[in-house]
Amino acid sequence: MSEGREWAVILGASAGTGAAASVALARRHHLQIFGIHRGNHPDTAARMQGEVEALGSGCHLRVGEAGTYASAREGAEEILRVAGPRSVRILVHAIANASVARLASGPGPMPAHPKQVEKTFEAMAHSFLWWTQALLERDLLTPGARLLALSNPMTDQLLRGTALVAAAKAALEVCVRHLALELGPSGIRVNLLKFGAVRTNALRATVGDGGADRIEEAVRAVIPAGRILRIEEVGELIALLAGEELAWFNGATLDFTGGETQSLWDYIVHHPPGTTE
Ligand SMILES: NC(=O)c1ccc[n+]([C@@H]2O[C@H](COP(=O)([O-])OP(=O)(O)OC[C@H]3O[C@@H](n4cnc5c(N)ncnc54)[C@H](OP(=O)(O)O)[C@@H]3O)[C@@H](O)[C@H]2O)c1
Repeated sequence: MSEGREWAVILGASAGTGAAASVALARRHHLQIFGIHRGNHPDTAARMQGEVEALGSGCHLRVGEAGTYASAREGAEEILRVAGPRSVRILVHAIANASVARLASGPGPMPAHPKQVEKTFEAMAHSFLWWTQALLERDLLTPGARLLALSNPMTDQLLRGTALVAAAKAALEVCVRHLALELGPSGIRVNLLKFGAVRTNALRATVGDGGADRIEEAVRAVIPAGRILRIEEVGELIALLAGEELAWFNGATLDFTGGETQSLWDYIVHHPPGTTE
């Protein structure tokens, strides 16, 4: 792996958004990929690595936890060894490890256990902060580096059972804005990319295959484009956000939902209950 080239650190690189972002960043910016995952998806991890290497970029995979304070610090040490100081152009926080739960008792999912609350907030929100701190403390970021967190429309909607995810994403959004304020003078840019449903392992784990079917069907009906998003489109946008041209985005929540949330009422009004079309 050639030293001196810039790197992308992808948390959750073996599947879904992280894998798509890895390939797109290698293609558009020739970045080297430092990816982290826990080893649950060896086939897609190998496919991503093969695609990145075929594009002429190196791909270093660390198999292990990325969602805790300790793992961020250990990961940063490894990045320092592999990539060297001031080498990381972009951090993409694409891990997904959330619990579906009610907040109080009643029908449906069980009320949230403290362990579920802690796990969801740690993986989906706090770890973005731990990684930012660890990369800064080890002086791993290039001038003008980008820190990118990911969110979904659940913060704007009430979908039963998703309160923990929505609350964690809301916390993440506030963290992003404050980090953007604090790090702005150093040239580092911190943003949140919000996009709608894509059928990944995380979506299946959250709502099951049946739930994913129903979400897909609902989104396809509601969304103005009439189809659901492709994960490659998310990867391409992430690669664009790493470019110099988009350095003015800071502290932003970028809406890449295709108008999903805004068009819900139009759908309800024009397709009242009982109509088939
Ligand atoms: N899918 C959607 O519809 C959607 C929509 C909007 C936003 N997002 C957001 O996009 C992000 C990624 O979601 P995704 O759907 O792309 O997920 P995914 O396809 O399930 O991929 C998650 C990746 O993260 C790894 N991972 C999960 N927990 C980890 C942990 N604690 N430590 C290290 N690696 C971990 C997984 O591999 P291992 O299991 O092997 O670790 C995998 O590589 C999440 O923040 C999610 O909320 C997703």
